[in-house]
Amino acid sequence: MSTSPDDQVTNPRALEPGCSLSDICERRFSRRDLIKSGLVIGAATIAGGISACTGEVPDKPISTVPGEALAGAPQSNFDFVEIRHGIDQHHHVAPDHEVQILLRWGDPIFDHAEEFDPHNQTAEKQLQQFGYNNDYIGYVDLPPQQGQQARALLCVNHEYPQHGLMFADFGADAKASLSAAQVAISQAAVGASVLEIGLQDGQWQLNRSSKYNRRISALDTPIEISGPLAEHARLRTSSDPQAKTVIGTFNNCAGGITPWGTYLSCEENFNFHFSGILSDDHPEAENYQRYNLPFDLFHWGKHDKRFDINAEPNEANRFGWVVEIDPMNPASTPKKRTALGRFKHEGGENVIAADGRLVIYMGDDQRFEYLYKFVSRDQVDLLDRQANRDLLDHGILYVARFLEDGRLEWLPLVHDNQKLQTQFASLAEILLEPRRAADLLGATPMDRPEDVVPNAATGKVYVMLTNNTIRNQVNAANPRPKNQFGHIVEISETDGDFAGTGGSWDILCRCGDPEIPDHKADWNPQTSENGWFASPDNGVIDPAGRLWVATDQGPATVLSGTADGLWAMETAGPLRGTGKMFFRVPAGAELCGPVFSDDGENLFLAVQHPGAAAQPGGVRIKTASTLWPDFEAGMPPRPSILVVRKKAGGRIG
Ligand code: FEO
Ligand code: CA
Ligand code: CA
Ligand code: CA
Repeated sequence: MSTSPDDQVTNPRALEPGCSLSDICERRFSRRDLIKSGLVIGAATIAGGISACTGEVPDKPISTVPGEALAGAPQSNFDFVEIRHGIDQHHHVAPDHEVQILLRWGDPIFDHAEEFDPHNQTAEKQLQQFGYNNDYIGYVDLPPQQGQQARALLCVNHEYPQHGLMFADFGADAKASLSAAQVAISQAAVGASVLEIGLQDGQWQLNRSSKYNRRISALDTPIEISGPLAEHARLRTSSDPQAKTVIGTFNNCAGGITPWGTYLSCEENFNFHFSGILSDDHPEAENYQRYNLPFDLFHWGKHDKRFDINAEPNEANRFGWVVEIDPMNPASTPKKRTALGRFKHEGGENVIAADGRLVIYMGDDQRFEYLYKFVSRDQVDLLDRQANRDLLDHGILYVARFLEDGRLEWLPLVHDNQKLQTQFASLAEILLEPRRAADLLGATPMDRPEDVVPNAATGKVYVMLTNNTIRNQVNAANPRPKNQFGHIVEISETDGDFAGTGGSWDILCRCGDPEIPDHKADWNPQTSENGWFASPDNGVIDPAGRLWVATDQGPATVLSGTADGLWAMETAGPLRGTGKMFFRVPAGAELCGPVFSDDGENLFLAVQHPGAAAQPGGVRIKTASTLWPDFEAGMPPRPSILVVRKKAGGRIG
């Protein structure tokens, strides 16, 4: 989701003095001083990989001409011609690549499903169609069938509704306008899709007849509560008195695919869907205050009392989890894996540690919230898929503390901890409220942790910190006050052991325009006028082990002068800390879900909320900034999945 309307800060530690040593942070992480003092020859010579950022760049105007190749781009590890910054109604990709629109919101996904008609939509139709606001994309390779070049399952999150862009003639007052039928459509439009696609004659196509196709929604999908919170008293509701099964999932932001091929779909801003009044005598008052509940952005509680915290006081404890879905078994019941903790989960990218255990990295995307990782108790069994069936029910959730000297500590959120015992009756209660547990342990409040991407090939982990415009007290890992443009932290786990409890960290880049001093951006001096970006959100490691970064600026788009997009990012060698612009979204959109096919020849991209202003729900179809991708009168802008391929074939980048 874009920079959220969720402006409140619920971490009481946000105003604590953090690193009072911003001068030290600056000294440690700015290359400028090192250059001045003659200590730097090339970034590769800097011990421990200290950030290769900042420097003088030629004084060129920012171009708004879309899609043209730039002459004289610096040499890089990425073999494509960079595109330019800019904002217009269309998408743009690097020259010599082709873009196919594969799936649009409302596309029928079953043989019997009805064609999309936005003026005659129903919840029943929406459940048979591709959902709204596609975010994460997981790619699960399948053996091609006869005549096909490739075949796969796509696992797609549908994050949140946008009633003003979904319903024609939606009124100015979003809550007053919303009907019960529209709430049902809204609930049917979010969640997830699993879809079989095939590549034939150079074109990808949805197989509407596939047995794998499936919609998971907030309206009608039973999801099992699994792990330490299963059957817990604080998850009991009037319709589920044993706390075994939740109906639905929503605000599914980013995610992950496990080594055994299941799909992790992560519930992020779940507070947006709950209404009611949180009084001091509400049984969950302290808990809900810390999660900014209720926020009532989407007004479901108006027609569905399940989402009213006064009518159903425990329902909001059943969201904010990671959901594991088996895409190979469309009849399977998805599971909320409560061992991974309850917070505003951005994603669930994961990696197998040297000892065979699974490590899942997870950001809690709100201002001043924390970075987590889960380490499974048991080893992954790569030979027996079923053996991993409940692997995610047992393990340890850790939260990160970044030290000023560049070290990193992973603090276990376990009930043996005496500080935690004073506040929490059990491990289950810690996992229900890991934010409050992490407060007690002194975790580091971050600038909105989004995707966290481990690179199995290098032992590094990349943390996308999207922005935090209200930070006053800096700390070493979040060194910029009023951080409008975000930054990327690189973690080096000790000895490359992803399951370990310590490591070191560094800042790969401080985002924003390096030509504008006020931005206090910090990039490799080789960064071109289009190579810098703002508000990193999703990241992906390509099959060659290289990092790509997608952005979500929200209102800061007007400050950067460019729409969101995808940048290739150098992480090693003399160009470390250099971006290179590959793709740009149409106005109003953010880019999500970048994922490559296993052979690196196909890049799947999710264009989310095209035509929208920064505030979800605040825009209407008639004021949309684009009608992409159809550009048809009467047809709203439609969030869509694209595939990029090289015209001449071969690996992208
Ligand atoms: Fe849904 Fe943090 O983006
Ligand atoms: Ca996002
Ligand atoms: Ca975001
Ligand atoms: Ca995101």
